[in-house]
Amino acid sequence: MAGTITYTMVKPEAVAAGHTGHILGMITDAGFRIVGLKKLHLSAEQAGEFYEVHKERPFYGELVEYMSGAPIVAAILEKENAVEDYRTLIGATNPADAAEGTIRKRFAKSIGENAVHGSDSDENAQIEANFFFSRFERF
Ligand code: RTP
Ligand code: MG
Repeated sequence: MAGTITYTMVKPEAVAAGHTGHILGMITDAGFRIVGLKKLHLSAEQAGEFYEVHKERPFYGELVEYMSGAPIVAAILEKENAVEDYRTLIGATNPADAAEGTIRKRFAKSIGENAVHGSDSDENAQIEANFFFSRFERF
């Protein structure tokens, strides 16, 4: 069964620290299939558009600067119940609250530099995947 998709990014500090391979290993060990994968350096404009829902939040400027400061690794993941199961695998936004065995518990440095992104709904998963990947980059 094909399942549904979610969209993830390994965030800049985790890529720079060399955690990409370990994080992708946790993802595939948890039963997700990688549909698309690439490394890219977001412009401030792209990061700002991606996180537009947080525009009014006090951390927005810092978030855009952080996400456009160094390369990220972007991926589309497929699994049954992908969005919810991936949020469980990554753990809480603040690593202090993240459960044992989650990606953020293991790799996040702080509530801001928290290692990975995960879509929060099926609708946003589609929007986010389409923002980064053409149909020729999905297999
Ligand atoms: P994400 O969208 O990256 O998967 O994270 P999330 O759903 O767990 O958290 P969200 O509320 O959507 O926040 C997006 C990202 O903004 C940064 N943030 N910083 N300094 C702060 O208080 C703060 N709060 C959020 C984090 O990088 C968070 O993942
Ligand atoms: Mg979010």
